[in-house]
Amino acid sequence: MNTADSLDDKFSPRTFTITTPLYYVNGSPHIGHAYTTMAADALARFKRLQGQEVLLITGTDEHGQKIERTATEANLSPQAHCDKVVADFQQLWQQYNIQFDRFIRTTDPHHEQIVKEFFQRVLDKGDIYQGQQKGWYCVACEEFKDERDLLADKHCPLHPSKVAEWRDETNYFFKLSAYQEKLEQLYADRPDFIQPTSRRNEVLSFVKGGLQDFSISRVNLDWGIPLPNDPSHTIYVWFDALLGYISALAEPGQNPDLTSSISKWWPANVHIIGKDILRFHAVYWPAMLISAELPLPKMVFGHGFFTKDSKKISKSEGNIVDPLQLAQTYGEESLRYFFLRCFEFGQDGDFSEARFVEIVNNDLANGLGNLLNRTLGMVKKYSEQLVVPSCNVAEIPADHPLKSIGQDLGSRVSNHYDQLAFSAAAEAVFDLVRASNKFIDDSAPWAMFKAGQQAELQQVLYSLLESARLAGFLLSPAIPKISTAIYQQLGLMIDFDHLQSTGATVDFSAHSAWGFLSAGGQLNSAQPVFAKLELASENST
Ligand code: ME8
Ligand code: MG
Repeated sequence: MNTADSLDDKFSPRTFTITTPLYYVNGSPHIGHAYTTMAADALARFKRLQGQEVLLITGTDEHGQKIERTATEANLSPQAHCDKVVADFQQLWQQYNIQFDRFIRTTDPHHEQIVKEFFQRVLDKGDIYQGQQKGWYCVACEEFKDERDLLADKHCPLHPSKVAEWRDETNYFFKLSAYQEKLEQLYADRPDFIQPTSRRNEVLSFVKGGLQDFSISRVNLDWGIPLPNDPSHTIYVWFDALLGYISALAEPGQNPDLTSSISKWWPANVHIIGKDILRFHAVYWPAMLISAELPLPKMVFGHGFFTKDSKKISKSEGNIVDPLQLAQTYGEESLRYFFLRCFEFGQDGDFSEARFVEIVNNDLANGLGNLLNRTLGMVKKYSEQLVVPSCNVAEIPADHPLKSIGQDLGSRVSNHYDQLAFSAAAEAVFDLVRASNKFIDDSAPWAMFKAGQQAELQQVLYSLLESARLAGFLLSPAIPKISTAIYQQLGLMIDFDHLQSTGATVDFSAHSAWGFLSAGGQLNSAQPVFAKLELASENST
């Protein structure tokens, strides 16, 4: 991958580009879309907290047969249909407090310009030719399927209610087969390119089985971008949509072309996607980029799927959980927390409202909220002033029950974030929260107060407050409002949302070190930072 590597060096290591998939607008967004987008947002916030310049890209994939048919069924023009659904997505991201930097729509005129330029490059390279496409097409996947991968009666395994359709037409093809060796070399040179490892193995064995050229144009489909060399065809929706990651980078107002678009934010540091679209991102996309002589993304992370009653949740299957309603009922912070915390990113998980309520009440109300509340209550009761208790942090031994966990927690959580191990990051923070609540009981500050052990008491209260602070800081990418409330009560005026949107920075290494709070700092009265949730309906399990 010499071209890619030498081009990589040109890019500032301080920029960090994250993408979500560009979602189809064939129906309203569901909880799966919210899941990917929340994860991407948390990663973006974490990187910004560390002082990196971050660009979070999301958007919508609007061309192709699936969208055209959906619009026809709704008696709308494709564009009117797309505009309507795009508004739903944007409302949802606002509801979930997603701070994206770019929202790319594949119907944006500048996207079309970029796609055509890219197509022309690949054509000039000699990687596009005309041929006859025969095979079974799943419109819901927008993908030709091998007959052996289909279920009985040609149903698609990803969309079991849909039947694949037979196609026999003249198409333009992309010479994917020419890139077999280069792709294998890429996977070998960059073992982290596809994450997690189980997905990497899937891709490796797929590629090893031999790559076939794939058709990148459609006839009899108007809702798409016409081929620059043959306007009687439109560009295959995937060949079009993947380029959205690059057209999203064009600076507003700039005459968009490939070279200027990739000048600052490309290559993407990570494409966060679900496992359903791994092949497109880990096989087709790098081959397309190599053909066009563009740098490759650094990582493709294919996360797991939510099921409901053990079935894939999908628009096509009609068993969606309405994410807007969930957020309106429970508030977005509890959902953001739950989704990052409860499933290992990469693994599948079954969604249950009852389990959600139980986990967030346990962690956020009983765990974190109580810790802060009880500690501030004790500071008030046992001191004359509501200030941070005096304590010499350096004198606290390294094996202190909280210092021992807190002192390298910041770096452990950072490492977890680098691996997109969101649940491990939250768990590591909760080790400290749990240990802190236990420490209250074990050290019995009330007994120290009675016995007049002032110095010991102050140290215990300091270490509890400091642990609550550090937990709040490290959880802020997931629950920025709760973290802001924790900081506020500790007399620290950082608005984690405001911070993100203004691009202001905090000193990450100072705040992520256990021992940041300074003695004597003014505290504020305890207020619950998280109100316990009630399960909204009995049958929503
Ligand atoms: O595939 N659980 O769009 P799409 C978890 N337009 N995540 C889920 C999920 C579930 N049950 N269902 C969907 C497309 N997702 C293309 C992408 S990119 C250039 C083009 C999430 O609307 C997950 O991220 O079908 C999955 O990959 C994505 O939504 C698919 O969204
Ligand atoms: Mg899909």
